[in-house]
Amino acid sequence: MSAPLEIVILAAGQGKRMYSDMPKVLHGLAGKPLLGHVLDTARALKPAAIHVVYGHGGEQVRAAFPHSELIWAHQAEQKGTGHAVAQAMPKVAEQATVLVLYGDVPLIRPQTLQELLSAAGTGLALLTAELDDPGAYGRILRDKSGHVIRIVESKDASPEETRVREVNTGFLAAPATKLRKWLAGLKNHNVQGEYYLTDIISMAVAEQVAIATRAPHDISEILGVNSKPELAQLERMYQKQQAEKLMQQGVTLRDPARLDVRGELSCGRDVVIDVNVVFEGKVTLGDRVQVGPNNVIRDSRIGSGTVIHPNCVIEQADIGADCRIGPFARLRPETKLAAHVHVGNFVEVKKSEVGEGSKMNHLSYIGDTTIGSGVNIGAGTITCNYDGANKHRTVIGDNVFVGSNTALVAPVTVGAGATIGAGSVITKEAPAGELTLTRAPQLTKPGWKRPVKKAKK
Ligand code: UD1
Ligand code: CA
Repeated sequence: MSAPLEIVILAAGQGKRMYSDMPKVLHGLAGKPLLGHVLDTARALKPAAIHVVYGHGGEQVRAAFPHSELIWAHQAEQKGTGHAVAQAMPKVAEQATVLVLYGDVPLIRPQTLQELLSAAGTGLALLTAELDDPGAYGRILRDKSGHVIRIVESKDASPEETRVREVNTGFLAAPATKLRKWLAGLKNHNVQGEYYLTDIISMAVAEQVAIATRAPHDISEILGVNSKPELAQLERMYQKQQAEKLMQQGVTLRDPARLDVRGELSCGRDVVIDVNVVFEGKVTLGDRVQVGPNNVIRDSRIGSGTVIHPNCVIEQADIGADCRIGPFARLRPETKLAAHVHVGNFVEVKKSEVGEGSKMNHLSYIGDTTIGSGVNIGAGTITCNYDGANKHRTVIGDNVFVGSNTALVAPVTVGAGATIGAGSVITKEAPAGELTLTRAPQLTKPGWKRPVKKAKK
C-alpha cells in the first residue's frame, strides 16, 4: 500500500500588488475564489488531509471556507515558502507523502499532480517547466548527467545560472519524515533573508534521495496571480479552456472568446450559444437548445428544443422543452415552466409554475402564481402578490384567457376556461367558463364639446 497523501496549500501571501483589502486567495476566478479552485483540485486527489497555511487576512480566509475537513495552520509572519510549509508539518502524519500546492496558482490540474505523485514514489518530485522567458522563477540546476542538484532563486542566481530556462513551478511532492527534517535544517542566508522551500533539494541530493521531475500539460497550470492583470489573464485562459471543452463535445459557440462559464455547464447535442452569454452556477441545457446573444443564465435547467432569445436574465428556473423565452425576459428563482411555454419581452416571472403551452408574451409580472395549461396572459397583466406585508398566491386554471392590462389581486383564483375582460381589477374568484370583467361600461355623450380657452379681458 502506498503512503497516505496529505496536501499542504500555501495561502499566507498578502498579495500587495492586488491593491485590495481582500486577501489575494479570495479574489475570484470564474466566479470562485482562487483558493476554492485549488481546494477542488486537492479534493479530486482524495487526500487523507488538506492543510491550509494562512496568514494575511487570515480570519477572512478561514470564514470563506468553513469546511470542517480543512486543517488550518497559521503563519504569523511570512518568512518564506520553507517556513510556510513547516507551519503545517506538526499535524502531518509521519508516514504521509506531502504535496505542496499554492492558493494563488488556481489552474493546476489533478492529472498533472497525479503524475507528479507517481513520479515521486518514495522520493521527491518537482514540477518544472521550460520557459522562453524564465524571469523571476527559481532555476533548476542539473549536473552533467542531467540529475537535479539544486534550485537557485532568480535573485540569488549568477548570470550563468540565470540563463537556465528550466524553472521551478513550486509544486513538489516529498515524504513527510524527510521533509520535516529538511525543513528544520533550513537557513535564511540568501538575498531575501527567507527560508526557501527550494533549499531542501540540495539536502535531498546529499542524502541520495531520488529527485524526479515532471512537466505540466499546459502553461496555464503553473501561472500564479499577483496582480489584477494576471488575474484577468488567467480568467481568459480558463474561459478559453471551457469553450474548447464545450466545442469538443459538439456545442456550437458563435465566438468562443465571448462566452463566460462561471460554474458548471452541461449541454446536450446540437446546442448553439451566441455571443456574450454568461453561465453561472450549475446550468444544464438540453438537446438543440439555442441561447441568443447577451443572456445571463444562473443555476437553471433548460429543456430540449427551447430557444432563449437575446437579453434575458434567468436564475434558478426550470424550463421545459420547446419553450420560447425573451427577448428581454426575466425568470427569477423557483420558476417552473412546462413544455411549449412562451415568455416574451418585458415579462418577469417569479416563484410560479406555468402549465404546458401557456403564453405571456408582453409586459407582465407573474409572481407566486400557478398557471394551468393553454393559458393566454394578455399584455400588461400583473399579479398583485404583495399587500405591503405578505405575499399571496394567484391560481389560474387551464385554458384561461386574461385580457390585457388586468390586475389580479391575490389571493385570487381564476377558474378553468374563464375569460377576463381587458383592464379588469380582479379581487374575487372569477368563475370557470365565464366572462368576468370589472371595467365600467363604455359611454358616449353625443354632442359633447371640449372646453375652450376663455378670452383675456
Ligand atoms: C517561489 C519559489 C520559486 C518558484 C516560484 C514559482 C521558493 C523559495 N521559491 O518563488 O523557485 O519559481 O515560487 O512561482 O520557494 N508564501 C507563504 N508564506 C511565505 C512565503 C510565501 O504562504 O512565507 C506563499 C505565497 O503566498 C505564494 C507562494 O507561497 O503563494 C510563493 O511565494 P513567493 O514569495 O511568491 O515565492 P516566489 O518568490 O515566487
Ligand atoms: Ca510568486
